[in-house]
Amino acid sequence: MAMATKNATRSRSSSQRKSGRGGAPRKTRGSARQQDVIALIKADHSSVNQLFRRYQGLGDRAMRSRRQIADRLIKELSIHAAVEEQILYPNARAALPKGERLVKEAIKEHQSLKEALAALEKSRPDSDAFDDLMTEIRDEVRHHVKEEESPSGILPQLRKHASREELLQMAKLARTAKKVAPTRPHPKAPAAPPGNLVVGAAAGMVDKVRDKVTRRE
Ligand SMILES: [Fe+2]
Repeated sequence: MAMATKNATRSRSSSQRKSGRGGAPRKTRGSARQQDVIALIKADHSSVNQLFRRYQGLGDRAMRSRRQIADRLIKELSIHAAVEEQILYPNARAALPKGERLVKEAIKEHQSLKEALAALEKSRPDSDAFDDLMTEIRDEVRHHVKEEESPSGILPQLRKHASREELLQMAKLARTAKKVAPTRPHPKAPAAPPGNLVVGAAAGMVDKVRDKVTRRE
């Protein structure tokens, strides 16, 4: 974890930080650079939900599209889990009053999700198992999103306990982590620092080579 968290619990003066009024320096509006880690994680959640909707809309015979959407889901969810484990959770653990419990639960759920993703990767799109796994993964992701975004969940709690600067800094780290994150599930790899930083980056490189060889998107 590269981010300092010792000041993460200090209260922030939201009215001062939000508006930028009263002589604050001019800011670029809507720039990706201003996206904080909460917006970044929520954007991931909605992108994945969109993929589930696309999958549901497919006909029974659209085997190629089923495989393509599943592969995309595997990739997006693998990257998402790695970024949460490398950046979001260590900070949540340190900064939130119930951080330890929230993160422990989230990591347990990630493990089950990675196992299902690994099984999906090996399944044929014309098998019953494929559909069952897609349903299982969709339900697990819905549960994950609900937990993280609920008022007592990690994201709203971070909004409350971390400063704007810290949330922006975490987003910057998350964007960097995404570039080297594994694109495939590795259920046997460690999910917490320091192991996940080293193994995650190495697995990310191997995955990218495999993605190229298999011409996966
Ligand atoms: Fe998440």
